Amino acid sequence: LKNIAILTSGNDCPGMNAAIRAVVRTARHDGVKIWGVRNGYKGLIRDQIEELSTRSVGDMIQRGGTFLGTARCPEFMEAEKRQLALENLQKRGIEGLIVIGGAGSLAGAWELSKLGMNVVGIPGTIENDVWGTDYTIGSDTAANTVVDAINKLRDTACAHRRIILIEVMGKTSGWLAMTTGIAGGAEYVLAPEAKYNLDRMCAEIRESYEAGKRYSIIVVSEGAASAVELGKQVGEKTEIDTRVTVLGHIQRGGSPTVQDRINASLLGEKATLGLLNGESGIMYGLDTGTVVEIPLEEAATNTKTLDPEFIRLSKVLA
Ligand code: F6P
Repeated sequence: LKNIAILTSGNDCPGMNAAIRAVVRTARHDGVKIWGVRNGYKGLIRDQIEELSTRSVGDMIQRGGTFLGTARCPEFMEAEKRQLALENLQKRGIEGLIVIGGAGSLAGAWELSKLGMNVVGIPGTIENDVWGTDYTIGSDTAANTVVDAINKLRDTACAHRRIILIEVMGKTSGWLAMTTGIAGGAEYVLAPEAKYNLDRMCAEIRESYEAGKRYSIIVVSEGAASAVELGKQVGEKTEIDTRVTVLGHIQRGGSPTVQDRINASLLGEKATLGLLNGESGIMYGLDTGTVVEIPLEEAATNTKTLDPEFIRLSKVLA
């Protein structure tokens, strides 16, 4: 292929810019024309497409978010809108597209590939919940942001002998809560995949404070419970001063970590080379550090489950 495009879709995550940079520079290195689509599938439908150069992606590797912009696009479910998107690519002679995003965005990529466009995907979401890959761009930066917050919250919890609940993102996936709970040394991690017993937890916390403990950190995945609601119950049941922090969109921003920059660069290069060599309907992910090719259809339709080892480990070490 000699003429390709790239878009970022769904929710942004740190490292998207590093991946775009890798795609643009790999394409230009091979003398291939590269276009950037603004605002995800929405921009594809609205014809917001512009040519990019090596210089368009200078000063980008360290920036969070996505300079192309992103959006959720329910319209892309409509066949006519997908046809319009296809025509907007074809009228510029664009023969291939790279999509960076989560499972929903990769499902869109799969749909577009069924219309005959060459499409490859790169998983990007802070939740690390895309099937077929160990890793998604942005998950490491988000996890480090959460661990930094846990460290700070423990300082103040310990000073006041308080319980602190911290609510982290993840929708139905407990990956972010579980890994950061382990890395942050949390006493409890409540995730959609891990059952918990509120009365038992509160009784254990009470006992530990009676024995001299000065703090308890409870990481709550947003899909397991509302930390605000739960915090009220924990405070009442333990009779220990309790505070709640909802981390929110802080988890989605920030300069990407080294791991996210390296993996985004690696996946960006491999996806571009694959597309240029005629691959389509493929997602480029990682399996224990090695780049793997997964059919987009499988990545989009299967549900990734949380490694039960994480759940076990978080209980053993708490
Ligand atoms: O990127 C995924 C995610 O951060 C979820 O974990 C969270 O529930 C959701 O996005 C928040 O979306 P919005 O930005 O629309 O509030």
